[in-house]
This record gives sequence, structure tokens and C-alpha cells, in this order.
Amino acid sequence: MIAADNNSQLMRLAMQAGARDFFAEPVDRQELHKALNQVIFDLRRGHSQQGILTTVINAKGGSGGSFVACNLAHTASVVSDSSIVLMDFDLQFGSQSLNLDLRPRHTIVEAINDIHKLDFDAIDGYMVQHKSGLRLLSTMHEQLVLPGEIDLENLDHLLTLMISNYDRIFVDLPRQIDPVSATILERSDQIIIVIQQSLAHMRDAQRLIRILKSELNISDKNISILINRFDPKSNLQPKDIQATLSCASFYLIPNDYETVSHSTNLGTPVLEYARHSAIAKAIVDLAEDLHVKIKEEYKEKSFIKKLLNLT
Ligand SMILES: Nc1ncnc2c1ncn2[C@@H]1O[C@H](COP(=O)(O)OP(=O)(O)OP(=O)(O)O)[C@@H](O)[C@H]1O
Ligand SMILES: [Mg+2]
Repeated sequence: MIAADNNSQLMRLAMQAGARDFFAEPVDRQELHKALNQVIFDLRRGHSQQGILTTVINAKGGSGGSFVACNLAHTASVVSDSSIVLMDFDLQFGSQSLNLDLRPRHTIVEAINDIHKLDFDAIDGYMVQHKSGLRLLSTMHEQLVLPGEIDLENLDHLLTLMISNYDRIFVDLPRQIDPVSATILERSDQIIIVIQQSLAHMRDAQRLIRILKSELNISDKNISILINRFDPKSNLQPKDIQATLSCASFYLIPNDYETVSHSTNLGTPVLEYARHSAIAKAIVDLAEDLHVKIKEEYKEKSFIKKLLNLT
């Protein structure tokens, strides 16, 4: 409520009518802005539909975790109307700004350090936006960040702000269990472990799953396995992997050296670089399986569905 003066009778009436705050003319613009942001924050936090936090982590270096996180987030931005964010938590060797050919002006570390000053408008300014609509909160190449520099309480606050503000948040998390990754993993609704078809990947994935379940108390239903660079001729077939790792969901992304290396070198995600390639379609399917709300035009009908003429 904004009134001509500080009339106490008016103030009482305003409060009885449910006003959250009372300002007398002349109104301090900054104070008004702060009050409005607090109302928005409270409303969004109270909103039952919070954003979904999806973390992509590799079971072994070089499995393709960053490739999957980037292309999944980009695909979700293109094929849905949801607001999508990609957070690059590879704090030392992050590459997402290069993968998307973007030049961030602020970093994830600045956002974490400044979190108490940030509201919904301000956090948006810390991100750089891709032409697909995807927002990226990333690191800078010339900076070296040590895990001890991150304040965990601030990190938790940043995740809350992200979840309250955007529909889908994808995190690229390198394989390393430390207080920063534990905080992110514990807050994640979906954890996708990226592996390739080898015994070494299986061993490390098994160990990672054990740590997630027993040390971090993460529920089975939140953990899925993604077999990247899938080779149908490999000795290790998905059913063997499934039997060993016993996870709720399994996904496959084909191997496509040509498309992936060109798209990465150009800084153009695969859906933009080769929309009709098998790998781009597999990532659209993956987004749909992860409950991204796909626009009708991007829904691929499977062979059986086409035969039965179902949608
Ligand atoms: N499905 C795929 N087909 C072909 N090449 C791929 C595929 N997925 C990833 N790659 C390539 O594999 C390499 C490693 O990928 P990426 O950097 O995403 O792995 P990572 O798990 O994030 O590794 P790091 O341990 O460095 O974080 C990259 O050169 C990438 O282009
Ligand atoms: Mg990576």
C-alpha cells in the first residue's frame, strides 16, 4: 500500500486488508523494489510447482558427462516452453561456455559469494543467454577455483533461488565427492550417471552408486544410468549393465564421433548442428523421459506408436 502520508488509521486498514507493506509518499524506489521482490520470492517458494534439479555426473573422466549436460539443457530449451538453466560446476576445467560459444561476464562463484544481495532479477543478470533461450551460469577459463572457496550455505541458497525461479536446472558435475558436490547431489531430483561400455566404467559406477546411496542417503528412484557412445556390438550389453548396476532407469545415447566433434568444435549443440541425426533424436527422447514438457512438433512417434496411430 502506498499512501500520501504516514496515517496510522490508514496503515491499520491496509494491514487488515492483507497488505504486506506500507509506504508513505515519497516512496524510496529501492525499498519498494526490495519489498516487491520479497513478495515474489515468498509466492514462488510457496508455489507447489518448483523447478526440477537434474545433475549429470560422469562415472569416469571423459565419459561424456559435460556433452550430455550441455546438449540435454540446450535440447530442453528448444523443444519446450520451460525456462531452462545450465550450471557448470566443473569449477576448474569447465567448458560449457565454449560448448555453447558464449562469453559469460559473471561466474558461478560470484553468484555464490553475492547470493545474499541477489533476487530474481539480479540472478538472471549473472547468467549469459544462448539464442535458444538457455541460460548458462558458468566458470571462466582464466580462473582457478578451489573447492574450499565455496561457502556451502551460500551454495544451498543459490540452489533454492534457482529452483524457485526456473522450471528446469541442469548441472554439469565432475566426478568428485566433496562438500560442494554432496550439497548439489543431495538437492537433486534426478541424478544421471554417465558411463560407457567397459568394465572400468561399471566398477566406478557401482562405487559411485554405493556412495550416493549409503553416504548421501540418496533414494534409488532418483538415480539413473546413461550409457553414452553406445555400441550395439560391444561385449557389455545394456541388460548386463542393468543386472550389475540395478538402477531404476537406463538411457542410451549413440556414438557419433563425427557429429559430436564438429558440433563441439563449432560451439553449436547437436540439435542445432544436425537436427535429424540419431544422436540429436536420442537426446530429445532423453529429455522427454526426464519429464521435460515437449512441444507437440518435437514429439517423435516411435515405430509401434506410428503403427497403432497413437500419439
Ligand atoms: N555420444 C558421443 N559420441 C561421440 N563422441 C562423444 C560422445 N559423447 C561425448 N563425446 C566426446 O567425448 C569427449 C569427452 O566428453 P566430455 O568432455 O563431455 O566428457 P566428461 O565426462 O565431461 O569429461 P571430464 O572428465 O573431462 O569432465 C569429448 O571429446 C566429446 O566430444
Ligand atoms: Mg566434464
